[in-house]
Formats: sequence, structure tokens, C-alpha cells
Amino acid sequence: MPLLDVDTLGVTFDTPDGTVNAVNDLSFSVDPGETLAIVGESGSGKSQTVFGVMGLLARNGRATGRVSFEGKALSEMSDAEFNRVRGDAISMIFQDPMTSLNPYIRVGDQMIEVLTLHKGLGRRAARDECVRMLDAVRIPDARARLDQYPHEFSGGMRQRIMIAMALLCRPKLLIADEPTTALDVTVQAQIMKLLGDIREEFGTAMILITHDLGIVADSCDRTLVMYGGRAMEEGPTQALFESPSHPYTTGLLKAVPRLDIDQPELQTIPGEPPDMSRLGPGCPFAPRCLLVREVCRETMPPLVSHGALRRACHADPAEVT
Ligand SMILES: Nc1ncnc2c1ncn2[C@@H]1O[C@H](COP(=O)(O)OP(=O)(O)OP(=O)(O)O)[C@@H](O)[C@H]1O
Ligand SMILES: [Mg+2]
Repeated sequence: MPLLDVDTLGVTFDTPDGTVNAVNDLSFSVDPGETLAIVGESGSGKSQTVFGVMGLLARNGRATGRVSFEGKALSEMSDAEFNRVRGDAISMIFQDPMTSLNPYIRVGDQMIEVLTLHKGLGRRAARDECVRMLDAVRIPDARARLDQYPHEFSGGMRQRIMIAMALLCRPKLLIADEPTTALDVTVQAQIMKLLGDIREEFGTAMILITHDLGIVADSCDRTLVMYGGRAMEEGPTQALFESPSHPYTTGLLKAVPRLDIDQPELQTIPGEPPDMSRLGPGCPFAPRCLLVREVCRETMPPLVSHGALRRACHADPAEVT
């Protein structure tokens, strides 16, 4: 049984200019211990997908579809049960740790509160567990540093603290939305290594949203490629990188610098992402696709299996290079 199962998720926003269709007819699942990458250009619906799943949409947003955790539909859970899943079983880490840590409260007190509130631990036991978690995210001298304020830590350290906090309740699923974008390349690499170690140590499943396809190739079991709020292609990361069968995936991959092949120049995908309040009936990528045909503008292709992958494209896979 998958840990998380998302079935025909839709996310819409009401705006003065009309309805924004941020996520459309999206289905995917995450198995226990598995790491799923969600990739796609800015605005493709990656963040709103996970916000929709977690019930964290902005006030003008609405989610449809069915989300199940360990076989149970979130919509059928009582508020208390849903909050327990969100607080304990699923954790999220965001791009900017400063917006999630309270600058006026010592790091230790913020961490301890999570455990006393969610796990009912006493202060002393909670403090010990916090030290253990800060050790796990490689913060030196953890016991002393619990008494410091967030600004006394570097950006990379603060991101480690966020990861430690997200792990305190031993979640089964960790959702990380661009966890390293605000950090420099060396620290990014350390944090990614850390997330890999944590997965080994605790068996945590992850959804990783990132623009860094190098990270995806190195650390994610499966990859979901989104465009215009829809799944374009999905499957095992290795198969998707080695033999992509969707023109959007090949476009994304050609924009990544690679050392292993002779690459004359990086190619970006020409054109602009679509206006999500004016999506037509066809494939959202059609206006930018080199293989576009009439049918692409008229109907959205279904997501169908092609070897190890699933793809939503009218073009013959043999044409896609
Ligand atoms: N509150 C809102 N009201 C209206 N539209 C919204 C709202 N929040 C998000 N959107 C729209 O939803 C679409 C998907 O946004 P989302 O944040 O999921 O993109 P993303 O793939 O995470 O992009 P990025 O890589 O830049 O983070 C975008 O077109 C965005 O403008
Ligand atoms: Mg985002």
C-alpha cells in the first residue's frame, strides 16, 4: 500500500481576473521510504500540489480530488485525526527557515514545544530528544546551542534546525519544498547529503521539490515532471533521465549543464509558461512544443505507460529526442 496516494487532485484559486487552475487532474503516490522528486519550471504547480495535499492553501484556494495516507482518505478523518497526520506523520520544510523559526524564541524552546505539544513529553525528555536530533543534523555542541536564538546561526545551520524540527515527531513522510535554494552551493550539497543520511537512518519517505536536476538524479527514486499544473511524465528517475519520452522533459534536461557528455551550449525552452487562468482544452505545453500537432491544442493526452515511464503526450515516443 502506498504511504501517500493522491488521486485526481485539482487546485483552483478564485481571483478578480477569474479562476486560476493551478493543479489539474494530478495523480501520484509515494511508497514508504521512497523519495519522489517533483520538478518543472516556476509556476508549474509544484508547491500548490503539496499545499493542496496538506490542506494549507491560501484562503482563495480550493482543492478537489482524493488524498489518502496509509489507505485512509484525509477527507474522512476527523479534524483531530487530520491534525495528527499533519503534525506527526507528515512534516514539511520550506525554502526560507527564517520565516518558519520565531526570531524571538530560543531555538531549544521552539523545538521542545513541538515535543511537549505533539508527543506529550516532559521538558527534560524533550530537551534530550532535541539534542539528539540536532546531533543527527550535525550541529556541533548541540546542548549549548539550544539556548541560542535563530539569528545566532548561519543560514545553512538554520536550515539544519528546520530539518531537525521536521524530524522531531519521526514523520513517515517529509515534504521539502526547495529546501536549499537560499543556500550557497557547498551548503546545499551538505544539506542534501544530510537528507540522504536521514532517509537511511529513519526510513523517512520524501517528496522533494527542486529546480536542481543534478540533485534529483543523485538522490530521488522517482520523478514527476509537471507543467501547467499537470503531470507531463513520471517514473523511475534513472529511466526518465536516460530515455525521456516527453518533449517537455527533454527540454528541461537540455537546460542542465552536464559534464559527462560533450555539450556545445545549454538550450533553454523557448517561450513563456502558460497563463493558468486561461488554459485551453489541449496540452498546456503545446504552444512551446517542437512536436506540436493539431490534436495537441484540442485535447489533453491521458497519462499512459511507456516502458517504465508514464507519459501524457500525443507525439510518438520515437520522435522525442
Ligand atoms: N493565492 C493564489 N491566488 C492565485 N493564484 C495563485 C495563488 N497561489 C498560487 N497561485 C498560482 O498557482 C500557480 C502554481 O503555483 P506554484 O506555487 O504551485 O508554482 P511552483 O511550481 O511551486 O513554482 P516555483 O518553482 O516558482 O515555486 C501559479 O500560476 C501561481 O501564480
Ligand atoms: Mg514553489
